[in-house]
Amino acid sequence: MINQETKERILEACRIEEVVGDFVSLKKRGANLLGVCPFHNERTPSFTVSPAKGFFKCFGCGKAGDSVTFMMEHEQLSFPEALRYLAGKYSITIEEEAPSAEMMEAQSQRESLFAMMDFAKNFYVDYLWNNDEGIAIGLSYFRERGFTDEIIRKFELGFSPDKWDGLTSSATGAGYKEEILGKAGLLIVNEQKKYDRFRGRVMFPVASLTGRTIAFGARILKTDPKSPKYLNSPETEIYFKSKSLYGISHAKKAIVEKDVCYLVEGYTDVISLHQAGIENVVASSGTSLTVEQIRLIGRYTKNVTVLYDGDAAGIKASLRGINLILEEGMNVRVVLFPDGEDPDSYSRKVSTIELLEYLTKSAVDFISFKTKLLLSDTAGDPIKKAGLVRDIVETIAVVPDAITRAAYIRQASTLMEMSEAVLIAEMNKIIRARNNRQGEETSAPVQDHAGEVLDSIEKEYTEEQLINDEHNTEVHEEEIIRILLNYAEEIFQLPDFNKYLDVEPVKGKQKKKGLGRDEEEEKPELQHIKVKDFIFDILQTDGISFTNEGYAGLLAEFANLITNETDYDAQSFINNLNPDLKPLAISLVTPKYELADWKSKGIIVRLDKDRIDKTVVDAMVYIQKKMANKKAMEFQNEIKERSEVGADIDELLAHYQELINLKMVLNRITNTVINK
Ligand code: CTP
Ligand code: MN
Repeated sequence: MINQETKERILEACRIEEVVGDFVSLKKRGANLLGVCPFHNERTPSFTVSPAKGFFKCFGCGKAGDSVTFMMEHEQLSFPEALRYLAGKYSITIEEEAPSAEMMEAQSQRESLFAMMDFAKNFYVDYLWNNDEGIAIGLSYFRERGFTDEIIRKFELGFSPDKWDGLTSSATGAGYKEEILGKAGLLIVNEQKKYDRFRGRVMFPVASLTGRTIAFGARILKTDPKSPKYLNSPETEIYFKSKSLYGISHAKKAIVEKDVCYLVEGYTDVISLHQAGIENVVASSGTSLTVEQIRLIGRYTKNVTVLYDGDAAGIKASLRGINLILEEGMNVRVVLFPDGEDPDSYSRKVSTIELLEYLTKSAVDFISFKTKLLLSDTAGDPIKKAGLVRDIVETIAVVPDAITRAAYIRQASTLMEMSEAVLIAEMNKIIRARNNRQGEETSAPVQDHAGEVLDSIEKEYTEEQLINDEHNTEVHEEEIIRILLNYAEEIFQLPDFNKYLDVEPVKGKQKKKGLGRDEEEEKPELQHIKVKDFIFDILQTDGISFTNEGYAGLLAEFANLITNETDYDAQSFINNLNPDLKPLAISLVTPKYELADWKSKGIIVRLDKDRIDKTVVDAMVYIQKKMANKKAMEFQNEIKERSEVGADIDELLAHYQELINLKMVLNRITNTVINK
């Protein structure tokens, strides 16, 4: 037991802003500090910390307290556990009251289990480093795997003797009762005999949030089809599988700093990533991901990136994880490793820089992930595509926040070439059905960006219309107008489109089709171009006109600007618009705060200025694709009609072929540029 004097010294040493600051990012606001409350979901900070008074208070949910209560609440610690944590933070040596016989008795079951696990961990670590068997079998195994001595020590890896009573005889010798060994899951007791649970395996201690050992994972070293590769501790009074995450005690600080948590499958993945310098990583090891585990991560960050194997099992696990994470109101991205690789093996193959680059470059948001995964086998099959649409919309529907849902819908609309209105209507159906099932209104129906409730159109969309959305260009028209309104004068670098043209020769005038490609050039030169010039160049060469009256009206205004060679200025442009176009234009000028807010949620805002090139190219390629689809269909009909009356169709077929080639090129561009 911690004595009174130590208690007082700890309480004196605590700086509330430092204690809280390890978990919540705080900004100075007058004499106080302000942050987003970790105890309830909020978007505008109302969590206040007062360094002078030494306490925190949230004006949103009412939670308040001092450093110790903060640690107890935030990390779910008991009072002594919180004190011990704070003593550690401020390097205060804990003086225990001499343990009397009664106190030994009174010591809680939990504390003695912690002590037992700590003893076992030290025993296994000692055996690994100092025993011949441990060194020859365990330590050499870890070293062969490429773990450094430093990392083996950091994760307190150990080895369990290949004996029936290795740990037990040592622990009982040190005064631990067999009963407690049993309760800790270290000793198996049945009618015939008692024996150590872990024998001849390398040991991975599983730690609580504060770093105390609560369980073990034990890996076999020989291949034995009769025994499982990993043996894990059973649940005990201090170990709840579904609530613990391997690596969390080492990761939490880095998770807060990096504001993202990497989620991997195994012990070795966590360790290898640490060795590569990536510390914001945890594993659900041994269980499939649970809601409690996600909430645990959610205390430190709202952003999770799932790093799973690219094999079927890994993909299945990540799909399941995605929905769970989204349901908790968190953002999820996915990185799949090449088939046969996991984070552990991959991190040993490449340098840290390459690894980090891989993690950032191949992380895709869940919509792109699912679309890519599922779109590949829906190609050309409208029924399957409708299934995919529903699948993705169902996933978006689990997201609790309406604004986030709207952002996802927008993105899905572009990726799947469906209009937003159709997707929203589909999603509202799902949400309503769910609410009816639950008999309560948990999520409000989604509104579109202009704030208009899209309820009324819901019933008008049939399955057939959903499928036939292919030729509707409105969503892209809106996007193009939005881009013009916000970034018309911006200059960006054109991607090198030539690399998409190298499979099939594209004949005749298609070569010039608006993509800024020059036949004469041997080597592609990177071009810089103004957003408005790029857009009008393509619209004019392709003869694209807008179908929506409002967007067409605004486009005409921009065309005027260009003819008069006037530079675009948002303020005067909007002021001079005629009254029926004004509200539309205003609704499409992106409010700054909205961008900032979405960005903080890890959502790719399509009008992100940093990625203007991608945004513009995406929008133009999509509308060209739609136009090509439309033309292809017209050609098909004409070819059919003509051949029925026996007319010559050679020329038509040639044109049709050109169109198909163009579509292929556009597809290639969207598949590579878009999904980055
Ligand atoms: N696991 C388990 N029991 C098993 C197999 C696996 O509990 N019989 C858990 C372990 O937590 C393991 C994780 O699932 O870390 C992932 O399994 P796997 O990829 O097979 O193991 P790795 O950790 O990658 O181990 P290694 O690289 O040594 O094969
Ligand atoms: Mn592995």
